[in-house]
Amino acid sequence: MSDQNTTHFGFETVPESEKAGRVRGVFSSVASRYDVMNDAMSLGIHRLWKDAMMDWLAPRPGQRLLDVAGGTGDISFRFLKRAGSGHATVLDLTEPMLAEGRQRAEAARMAGSLDWVVGDAMALPFADNSFDVYTISFGIRNVTRPQDALAEAFRVLRPGGRLMVLEFSTIPTPALQWAYDRYSFNLIPAMGQAIANDRDSYQYLVESIRRFPDQETFLGMVRSAGFEQAKYRNLTLGIAALHSGWKL
Ligand SMILES: C[S@@+](CC[C@H](N)C(=O)[O-])C[C@H]1O[C@@H](n2cnc3c(N)ncnc32)[C@H](O)[C@@H]1O
Repeated sequence: MSDQNTTHFGFETVPESEKAGRVRGVFSSVASRYDVMNDAMSLGIHRLWKDAMMDWLAPRPGQRLLDVAGGTGDISFRFLKRAGSGHATVLDLTEPMLAEGRQRAEAARMAGSLDWVVGDAMALPFADNSFDVYTISFGIRNVTRPQDALAEAFRVLRPGGRLMVLEFSTIPTPALQWAYDRYSFNLIPAMGQAIANDRDSYQYLVESIRRFPDQETFLGMVRSAGFEQAKYRNLTLGIAALHSGWKL
């Protein structure tokens, strides 16, 4: 890939080679306030969405999870608690996010069931067919080439393995989408300033949400990566969506 290729960083156009560094900058800056900001911005609703992800995923004892863009570990902790036993590998581009997660794991006495790996969703440092489940929650819209990340998910899952993606999406009713945009573009950067002293990172967050493909388009991308029985479910009117697929 040459530097001439461009992509979006929120509403800005940037060389592809710059995006990962800028995304890392955003999440390094917010890491220590990430969990508290998630609750504040979503009024706690992100917890319900993550629980809905677990309901559909139905973790089973002994499963090996790869939680990409896993950040501070929210999905992995839920997965391990539901499975009862198993192992989670949390991979993320941003070391300070993983450091927060590691502290949480130690506090919850779960450190033995987790690994924390710095890496990029587009080039996973794992062998083919190594995991039972691949999750990516609020991560894929930050990845420079999401289709490459889906190809990597397919590669590292074992035959019979399951992909599940949780991401912000599109509200199918234009009037509701308009109202939601007013909320997100006016309030979220202001909350980022007030709580995390960082308006720009939260401006990026809302812009990146608007740039991400809608449910049907992303479903096509999941299918193109080779996943079968691919389906999605809307959460809270389509503010977020879950996409599921199987490597068969
Ligand atoms: C909004 S946080 C989501 C964290 C967690 N999954 C959750 O649901 O709370 C997005 C995470 O994606 C990570 N990320 C962004 N681009 C990535 C990439 N290309 N590969 C791996 N992680 C990436 C960021 O570092 C950040 O920790």
